[in-house]
Amino acid sequence: MGLQAIKGFNDILPAEMNTWQWVENVFRQLLSSYNYGEIRLPLLEYTELFSRSIGDDTDIVEKEMYTFHDRSNRSLTLRPEGTASVVRAFIQHGMAATGNINKLYYLGPMFRYERPQKGRYRQFYQLGAEVFGEEDYHQDAEILIMLARYFHVLGVGSAKLNLNSLGCKHCRPAYRQALQDYLQRHGEYLCGDCQRRMQKNPLRVLDCKRPDCRKVVAEVPKILDYLGVDCQAHFDGVIRLLDEVGIDYHVNPFMVRGLDYYTRTTFEFIAGDLGAQNAVAAGGRYDRLVEELGGKPTPAIGFAIGMERLAMLVDSDSVPVSAPFIYLAALGESALNILYPLRHKLNQAGVGAVLNYRQKSLKNLMKKADRNNVVYTLIAGDQEIEQGAAILRNMKTKEQQTIPLNTLFTNIREVFDGHQNN
Ligand code: HAM
Repeated sequence: MGLQAIKGFNDILPAEMNTWQWVENVFRQLLSSYNYGEIRLPLLEYTELFSRSIGDDTDIVEKEMYTFHDRSNRSLTLRPEGTASVVRAFIQHGMAATGNINKLYYLGPMFRYERPQKGRYRQFYQLGAEVFGEEDYHQDAEILIMLARYFHVLGVGSAKLNLNSLGCKHCRPAYRQALQDYLQRHGEYLCGDCQRRMQKNPLRVLDCKRPDCRKVVAEVPKILDYLGVDCQAHFDGVIRLLDEVGIDYHVNPFMVRGLDYYTRTTFEFIAGDLGAQNAVAAGGRYDRLVEELGGKPTPAIGFAIGMERLAMLVDSDSVPVSAPFIYLAALGESALNILYPLRHKLNQAGVGAVLNYRQKSLKNLMKKADRNNVVYTLIAGDQEIEQGAAILRNMKTKEQQTIPLNTLFTNIREVFDGHQNN
């Protein structure tokens, strides 16, 4: 077999890109309407950025990063997620000081060395956003409502919101202690990784997928029983706002997420139709990360959507198709000479036009026009050209009209404008 792409690294072909582009366009429009600005970040960062933010004991940092040394022997990593880089950029460019830019969104590939399966790839795309400087629970709910509406617009009704709070630096230590005490009592049933993590970072045990560990985790103390007054009020506030707008959610006190930086609200949108890899989007608050990475204390919250998983949930029939407007059917050399410049003129005026170069059979041309889903076809054969005209055919109604060659451009423009205004 010839050269193949690397396992877990996919080509996204034009047929799928139609859905991707629509999903991305709706995302951009929605995020702009909520006053987010786009940020583009490098794919490579110093490894330390990820180990310090995501956490040394997480699966991502321990097992899944594409890390290598460059020619100057610096340890670099292909980004496994976007949040750490956005925080780095936020601090590096002094965005806190400018005050007004505090809502950022990004689109792009992420890299994790996971076992590839349906919905899980080694290069995958995320649509994500981060908000800096807003501590209020209204911000948490704003993001959740915005995401729920986004899924609704895309016709992805099945994504169900799972919600938890991980508390803050004041209430977490008591929970951590209770969790550790419990895990120590049941340590013999835990896997090797969890026995090790239980000491250093017991919350990570809640994330283990191994069946024996899951059994132990089913009975662990719940973080929600340990929230302090402020964290409880914050969580209640989010829930009240969701109730008010009628967004369905499920409180899952065992959901800790696979990254260490979270505080307070955490969430995942789960879609049953996706199979084992069922989280289509996820995120939460990370009120301490900016400070931990060297910035001024700044509360923050964000989310990321898995593009491949979202595209799987979107019904491709509901995606608007962007077909060319007109098919220019040149039946012969003299027709081609006239339609060739016309095609460029139309394209440059924003009218989608395709042209055949060497085709003699009208029947085949009409088939091609049909396959291209065009609205109109312009037919020009030697006979028409001799008479100084071409035939414009509406592909839906089958109505035809004869158009003089010297007004082809203006006539087609008029028909196009009329079609756009309909
Ligand atoms: P995450 O849960 O690691 O969170 O990833 C977010 C989403 O990316 C997942 O829900 C899933 O849809 C998709 N995803 C993750 N790994 C893969 C994979 N291997 N293949 C395909 N899709 C995948 C984060 O990345 C956080 N940065 C989210 C966040 C933003 N939290 C705060 N701000």
